Amino acid sequence: MSEQGTPAEVIDTSRPHPARMYDYFLGGRDNYEVDRAAAERVIEIIPDALPSARANRDFLRRAVRTVVVGGIRQILDIGTGIPTSPNTHEIARESAPDVRVAYVDNDPIVGAHAAARLTSEGSTGFALADVRSPETVLGDPVVRELIDFGQPVALLLVAVLHFIQDEEDPAGIVATLTEALPKGSCLVLTHGTQDFHQHVEGDANEVYQRSTASLTVRPHDGIAPFFDGYELLDPGLVQVPLWRPDAPLPDVDELRRVAFYGGVGVKE
Ligand SMILES: C[S@@+](CC[C@H](N)C(=O)[O-])C[C@H]1O[C@@H](n2cnc3c(N)ncnc32)[C@H](O)[C@@H]1O
Repeated sequence: MSEQGTPAEVIDTSRPHPARMYDYFLGGRDNYEVDRAAAERVIEIIPDALPSARANRDFLRRAVRTVVVGGIRQILDIGTGIPTSPNTHEIARESAPDVRVAYVDNDPIVGAHAAARLTSEGSTGFALADVRSPETVLGDPVVRELIDFGQPVALLLVAVLHFIQDEEDPAGIVATLTEALPKGSCLVLTHGTQDFHQHVEGDANEVYQRSTASLTVRPHDGIAPFFDGYELLDPGLVQVPLWRPDAPLPDVDELRRVAFYGGVGVKE
């Protein structure tokens, strides 16, 4: 973990944190009253926040397995969130025990949990860094120690880019990260959308506005360009349950509740 002060000094419990709200959606216990209240408000506005979070996590599991089975042995997981078992390295190592994983998040509370639960097993590390400064992420000593940018890397941007506003240039951020990766690297990406929820009451973006990161959900057309320079694996950028399902698909009504697109691309 990066040395940025003890977690207790930097963890803000006065404002909701997206990482802790997401932990609440997934049924975790690493959240505070302020996070639970904000998460409940999001659930009031988008009752589908919970099934969406679970479907997103299931996608991550299938996508990580796919890229590792495809030969990837190093993973840069940016916006990793509070550890939720199985974590990226646990999923990867089911298929290949030698996979190295660099976890990155800009929330110190994620760092505090990562120190205890993600980085205790060699070949994993955590960097406290902000994806809005991609050069800092790429230059972080923990990332440099674990990731050999001469070999293919799986870049995970799972449920994080919707915390980057248009004026912060999310496409430019992805392009900078992509430039550092050799051919054959993979982009594993999910992103929140309202394409399936046209009639939500209230504004979930507004709830996140008061948290430590604002939310910008995007339509399919706003997400697909993040894959510029990558060839999308079948079935492309789709609602996450439809990406290579390994269990029976939910029915149409259930499917409509999942507010995430996801895809995996291979760098050309
Ligand atoms: C919804 S969680 C996703 C966790 C995990 N990737 C998953 O999909 O299960 C989003 C994570 O992104 C992190 N995050 C938000 N903005 C970020 C930024 N600018 N740089 C790095 N991480 C960020 C949050 O702290 C949070 O842990």
